[in-house]
Amino acid sequence: MRVKAIVQIFAALAVVASSSPISTSSHVVHERRSMPPPKWSKDSRLHPNFVFPIRIGLSQQNLHRAEEFINRISNPLSTDYGKHWSPHEVTEMFAPSSEATNEVRGWLSASGVELSRVKLSQSKSWLEFNVTAQEAERLLRTEYHLYSHETGDRHIACEEYSIPSHLTKHIDIITPAVDFDKSIGTPRRMQERDQLPNSLHALNKRAVGHAVLGSAGDTSNPKHGPAILNALVSLDNCDAMVTPACLQALYGAPVGSKAANNNTLGVVEYTPQAFLQTDLDLWFEQFSPPQVGQGPITHLIDGAIVQTRNQSFDFNGESSLDLQYAMALVYPQAVTLYQVGDLVTGASFNNFLDAIDGSYCTFQGGDASDPNVDGQYPDPDCGTVAPTNVISTSYSFNEADLTPRYEERQCLEYMKLGLQGVSILYSSGDFGVAGNGDRCINPADGTYNDGKGGIFNPTFPGTCPWITSVGATQIANGSSVRDPEIASQRVIFSGGGFSNVFPMPTYQEKALSTYFSNNKIPYGADRYNNSQAVRGFPDVSANGVNYVVAVNGEFSLAYGTSASAPTFAAFLNMINEERIAVGKGPVGFVNPVLYANPEVLTDITLGGNPGCGTPGFNSTVGWDPVTGLGTPNYPAMLQLFMGLP
Ligand SMILES: *[C@@H]1O[C@H](CO)[C@@H](O)[C@H](O)[C@H]1NC(C)=O
Ligand SMILES: *[C@@H]1O[C@H](CO)[C@@H](O)[C@H](O)[C@H]1NC(C)=O
Ligand SMILES: *[C@@H]1O[C@H](CO)[C@@H](O)[C@H](O)[C@H]1NC(C)=O
Ligand SMILES: *[C@@H]1O[C@H](CO)[C@@H](O)[C@H](O)[C@H]1NC(C)=O
Ligand SMILES: *[C@@H]1O[C@H](CO)[C@@H](O)[C@H](O)[C@H]1NC(C)=O
Ligand SMILES: *[C@@H]1O[C@H](CO)[C@@H](O)[C@H](O)[C@H]1NC(C)=O
Repeated sequence: MRVKAIVQIFAALAVVASSSPISTSSHVVHERRSMPPPKWSKDSRLHPNFVFPIRIGLSQQNLHRAEEFINRISNPLSTDYGKHWSPHEVTEMFAPSSEATNEVRGWLSASGVELSRVKLSQSKSWLEFNVTAQEAERLLRTEYHLYSHETGDRHIACEEYSIPSHLTKHIDIITPAVDFDKSIGTPRRMQERDQLPNSLHALNKRAVGHAVLGSAGDTSNPKHGPAILNALVSLDNCDAMVTPACLQALYGAPVGSKAANNNTLGVVEYTPQAFLQTDLDLWFEQFSPPQVGQGPITHLIDGAIVQTRNQSFDFNGESSLDLQYAMALVYPQAVTLYQVGDLVTGASFNNFLDAIDGSYCTFQGGDASDPNVDGQYPDPDCGTVAPTNVISTSYSFNEADLTPRYEERQCLEYMKLGLQGVSILYSSGDFGVAGNGDRCINPADGTYNDGKGGIFNPTFPGTCPWITSVGATQIANGSSVRDPEIASQRVIFSGGGFSNVFPMPTYQEKALSTYFSNNKIPYGADRYNNSQAVRGFPDVSANGVNYVVAVNGEFSLAYGTSASAPTFAAFLNMINEERIAVGKGPVGFVNPVLYANPEVLTDITLGGNPGCGTPGFNSTVGWDPVTGLGTPNYPAMLQLFMGLP
């Protein structure tokens, strides 16, 4: 404990001149919690001289204009199409207003906090300074206590705090205060998932199907099929074994030929998922001989390692599948692997986003809106790696695993990446209208059930409107690469449906209204949000069945939208190669272009995505919540994107 001699003479307050109407402004409660989360107990009140860092999160500006901004640069009819923003422009647009910064500083100054002590973060969204407990308590009209967790973890918190009413519109949050999301150092797996009082977290505890991203039990990862003795490069049996050549034939894509600077394909993996070079080599020998010995360009984020301790399909399946196909399809271009999280704490999407965008990091990089989801690192990566033009992730949560506030914040970050010309692709899930692990939502209490009934359980970030969600198709039994595919009906069902959180983006309006007028949906509000006003997903699809992979020294089959996402991403990356070659920029956020030109995708019209005791939705003419707009027609997509500025 450090003691700092900052003594406050609050009597002097009234005589300090201030630009803000502090003397007339009454304090109002800004945030409150009734009880500490389970397993935490309140210890002693903080000593008045105890010094700790306090952060004031200022409200960002212009977030309500997200859709306007993203449409301006990604709608093909816009005169600003393709005019992506620089990271600096993004920071400036969303940074809190100078009015907000000034008024909060005015309040601090008037309250006796010398402004020389107050630092503005690089993102301009946090004011940070060291305070004594006494000072903080007076500023926020509260009492700070030390709290202890059963595991021995400790945390500073208060039950509620107040700020001047004229500042409520300028201040998002203050930490540490009522949140328990800054406890650094407790391995996440030792924490109980019910630490937060939110009912959604209570729900997680009972959600058998939910697992830490990337853990051996993460059901968003690919499903394992039989071992195969003889993996042949043959287009004759793509209905039984999919290889890169099958995908190129199916979608009319050439083998890669270009490798522009700064156009590697990004693939994100969450530790303990890992690849083995021996598996890559085994697979390359068969399917891409020039790549034997090659690996991805690896960025290790938040203490990540490419672990070799556990070796089985549950630990190596995802990375093997993603890297083998991504690397082969874009070759001679390379793949950038973002390996996120260490073996103890694990990580989540926010940890990755912190690493590619320093301005997203909140607390000295302290990640995270939710410690039960995002890994908490004492020394996190904040803006340490650059995003690639296309980033594919084959991991997902259920939307109901997380809070809407968490999801909205993260989704807006994907929007900011889209503004900068980055294409973000996520797998849509493998359980049809059910969630990960085949769980649906029990209408009585919001818990997850056994998947035999209940409310449909959409995936996140699949339902975020600012990413491209990729569903799964398959080649029908006995059909060839020249026949139309169907929605995946083997081992996995394409994740799809409608969000319970996000409204329908304008780029989807026409496609969804056609879908609803052409299809009489036999489900009511007891199954899904049938308002016809919410985001539908997936956006597109690609084959996700019977991928030949090399894992742990043997060839076997793998299934999942986990396969579909990197495949679609690889083709987008190849389109970027061609655009870059003629001096154009990357395609960035593609949804508005694709929904305006659905003919560049092959519409899939057979199969459905059963779940929750129903046949799910049907893959049908036009967009549908099973296969989206359809699978890539590479030559048509290329022509379209080459024709855009
Ligand atoms: C708070 O104090 C710590 C320890 O003295 C120091 O490292 C840190 O820079 C200070 N923070 C601010 C915002 O002054
Ligand atoms: C790649 O991008 C980075 C930053 O985005 C830039 O500094 C660098 O010059 C680029 N490299 C090439 C080879 O274009
Ligand atoms: C992973 O390896 C560690 C160390 O060998 C072992 O304790 C653990 O049980 C393994 N986990 C699984 C799921 O196999
Ligand atoms: C397709 O083939 C798979 C694997 O051989 C088999 O399990 C499935 O029943 C077949 N489906 C149909 C519709 O024939
Ligand atoms: C469905 O979504 C709409 C739009 O977001 C929302 O207003 C409505 O409350 C939702 N309905 C249900 C039953 O959740
Ligand atoms: C799917 O198609 C079947 C057969 O036409 C129909 O009975 C059913 O209502 C459709 N389901 C949906 C969700 O559109």
